[in-house]
Amino acid sequence: MALIALAADKGAPGVTTAAVALGAVWPRPVLVAECDQAGGDLVYRLPADPGTSDGSAMLNPSRGLLSLAATARRGLRPDQIAEHCQRLVGGLDVLVGLTNAEQAQGMTWLWTPLARAFRGLQEVDVLADCGRLGAGSPLNDLLREADMVVLLTRATLEQVAHLRERVVALTGELRGGPPLGVVVLADPRDFRASIAEVDRILTGTRQRLEARGGVPAPPVSVLGGLALDPKGAELLSGQWGGRLDRTLLVRSAREVATALTARVNAAGAAEPLMAEGRF
Ligand SMILES: Nc1ncnc2c1ncn2[C@@H]1O[C@H](COP(=O)(O)OP(=O)(O)OP(=O)(O)O)[C@@H](O)[C@H]1O
Ligand SMILES: [Mg+2]
Repeated sequence: MALIALAADKGAPGVTTAAVALGAVWPRPVLVAECDQAGGDLVYRLPADPGTSDGSAMLNPSRGLLSLAATARRGLRPDQIAEHCQRLVGGLDVLVGLTNAEQAQGMTWLWTPLARAFRGLQEVDVLADCGRLGAGSPLNDLLREADMVVLLTRATLEQVAHLRERVVALTGELRGGPPLGVVVLADPRDFRASIAEVDRILTGTRQRLEARGGVPAPPVSVLGGLALDPKGAELLSGQWGGRLDRTLLVRSAREVATALTARVNAAGAAEPLMAEGRF
């Protein structure tokens, strides 16, 4: 079904936390895939469902993207993915990422076949945590195949400035590719103002791009905001509990998940399918 790539430019705005929060409330079957070239974090953060991890309460770092890549050298089919996935306590399925950046260096060939295999999954959307994107990142191959690229930013001057540069670069690198969306991580007390400010800056950037290129630049829309909520983020880094459902972060994630699924449906990427959230 749909492949949604989540990424950032500079800083660590909270991409991994957002991927887990969105996955936890996603209204359809979903897989969170750690594709961050700098290495994954989930094995250090979240407990495995012992029923699906040979009785261990920890995620197995050797079962995930690395083991999938080892079997994918001669081609990668969607039905090969499931056996490399693990389930978190709470029920969210994850594909654990690489251990470190060195492993990613030999894997530049992986991202296009991986993205195509994700999109070929019949009943499952994939939220790919693509980490921080630099210039000419090999992960652009995955982004190009995605149904939507979502850039996360905090509403600080420096992060929005870097985001704007990344939007300009991606607009060129992904020309003809998926739409770009932005999600703003902001203090819930200034939510509306922060989102409106980022929207204003991006609209200005788009207008300048169009004026420069003479052709319409791909739309870059602000899809919504995720709450900066240290308590919620902390809970998403540990044992999940009932209280998580009431955190500002998870509540805001529900709204972003709804906006995102509506977008990819409108673009015809996926059939509507309702399933329970993972709480
Ligand atoms: N919505 C949030 N509210 C408050 N704190 C957050 C939020 N999201 C993330 N954080 C905190 O920010 C830090 C970085 O979060 P996270 O690992 O999700 O960022 P990242 O963008 O994936 O970083 P990296 O690029 O290093 O992988 C963590 O300490 C996390 O608890
Ligand atoms: Mg991360």
